[in-house]
Amino acid sequence: MKETPDLPPAYRLVVLETVESTNTEAARRAREGAPDGTCIWAKAQTGGRGRRGREWVSPPGNLYFSLVLRPEAGPDKVGELGFVAALALRDALGTLVPPLTEVRFKWPNDILINGSKVAGILLESSATGRETVDWVVLGIGVNVESFPEDTEFPATSLAAAGSTDIGPADVLEAFGRCFLAWVNRWLDDGFGPVRASWLNYALGRGEPIEVRLEGETLTGTFEDIDDRGALVLRMAGEDRRVVTAGDVFPVRDSSAG
Ligand code: BTN
Repeated sequence: MKETPDLPPAYRLVVLETVESTNTEAARRAREGAPDGTCIWAKAQTGGRGRRGREWVSPPGNLYFSLVLRPEAGPDKVGELGFVAALALRDALGTLVPPLTEVRFKWPNDILINGSKVAGILLESSATGRETVDWVVLGIGVNVESFPEDTEFPATSLAAAGSTDIGPADVLEAFGRCFLAWVNRWLDDGFGPVRASWLNYALGRGEPIEVRLEGETLTGTFEDIDDRGALVLRMAGEDRRVVTAGDVFPVRDSSAG
């Protein structure tokens, strides 16, 4: 188990014992001019944030980090980085979990191990209104040692999946390498190959799902993600809905024995 990750020179690592949220800290530093590749890693967070205003419980033992990125990309392309990061994390975890462990994605950016959530991604960016964003903060939380028991969607940790001899630094190191490879692919070839690779490992494609939005729940078949990463849901009567923010849950077939 490593104490400090050995990251490629493209990153500038900042190690903090405890911070409110690495995303908040990274955004503050980005506004002050922190360069592309700045990586804020905290051993614990007191106010970790998840998607859609939720709390991300952040005790010591798990991985919490946020990258400052300054891509030459418009605000409409920023969301693609969540899929780029998910693919990198899948590759990284693949090197750390026992053989035959299933690592998959749940839209938009969750990483699942054997069907339970092991990691989440929170993307934030500078206010729009310009052609390219000034900065993007890519925040990632990975349940390495422990996981919350009281979540709507079941959670797990790397330790629970059998990887008991790895720590947060090992995961960050593996991610750092894989992320460079996927970001370069995205910069060179665009979202097409990222989208195709992500769909290969997506949970529930072609199956009935429930999508919980603010104040509305949709049920339909998970058909696709579009060329910006939005979820395409086929509803009854061949109607399609394109969803940009929500929580996906598989719908179990109640007629099955
Ligand atoms: C989600 O699945 O809801 C996204 C969770 C993102 C959590 C990470 S932990 C590091 C970074 N700092 C935060 O406050 N949130 C992200």
